[in-house]
Amino acid sequence: MGEKRNIALLTSGGDASGMNAVIRTVTRYAIYNNLKVYGFYEGFKGLINNDFIVLDLNSVGGIIDRGGTFLYSARSEKFKCREGQKQAIDNLKKNKIEGLVVIGGDGSFRGAHELHKQGIQVVGIPATIDNDVAGTDYSIGFDTALNVIIDIMSKIRDTASSHERIFVVEVMGRNSGMIAVNTGIACGADYILIPEIEFDLAKIASQIKNHREGKRHTLVVVAEGAASASDVASSIKLLAGHEVRISVLGYIQRGGSPSALDRILAAEFGKKAVDLLLEGESDCMIGIKSMKIETSKFEDILEAKKNIDEDLYRLAHILAL
Ligand code: F6P
Repeated sequence: MGEKRNIALLTSGGDASGMNAVIRTVTRYAIYNNLKVYGFYEGFKGLINNDFIVLDLNSVGGIIDRGGTFLYSARSEKFKCREGQKQAIDNLKKNKIEGLVVIGGDGSFRGAHELHKQGIQVVGIPATIDNDVAGTDYSIGFDTALNVIIDIMSKIRDTASSHERIFVVEVMGRNSGMIAVNTGIACGADYILIPEIEFDLAKIASQIKNHREGKRHTLVVVAEGAASASDVASSIKLLAGHEVRISVLGYIQRGGSPSALDRILAAEFGKKAVDLLLEGESDCMIGIKSMKIETSKFEDILEAKKNIDEDLYRLAHILAL
């Protein structure tokens, strides 16, 4: 039997729940395809420092339900310059690594694109709670973060309605309102403030002041990229004359055990990444698109049998090696 071909993977940028599940999929599916897998620590920083572990079936056991990333993550400034990239490429070549899977957000893919331009075969898997990467409806970690936030929002709502209070809740998202909008819709927020759409705090305050009789709470969700909860609360207090409480959710949004959706996406994305490398593809990102709302005739759905996804079924068994 000839020498095994080598691939590598790394997690980069802010950690996102489901990254470990992706590492497990890529590793086990790659081994199933007779590849040897190198896991680089701390993202591109590990590539530069040649800091890696050779992953086997056991090393990714018991991590499917763990948040964070056991390969650790970082945002490497050194990798942004040519010299850092050259060091990373030298290490990939030294270890005879033929393909690389980068798990992270758009910043990480900018790095991946640079590697591709310099001759490295590289594919990306979107993983960021911000869900701000184009080309996919969902990035790994987004659904888990939303579920964590939704749970907290219910608790805040209990207090808000018990005391007839206004709450301003600040969520993460960097420059994106994706988390805020989805939180707002899932929690029945009264106002959602996001960087993408202009808002008028005077108008909001006047509506809150004159809110309908019997309304016991007001929930305002603000994306960190739009304004700070304390600034929004001060304006509402000043303009509406009501007491306002704030809650900045911060880092409790990022960790924790991944949701079912994030684990399933981790399996699908991870498998596809390895397939793409085997097919010789590069410079691309895997995603899921067009979960469109559609209408079906009763007769069509009553006649039809809903099939399970057999590929997914098979993949679950491959990954349980
Ligand atoms: O990208 C994920 C994220 O949590 C953003 O929502 C947030 O703005 C940022 O990371 C915080 O970054 P750091 O953890 O480096 O402070």
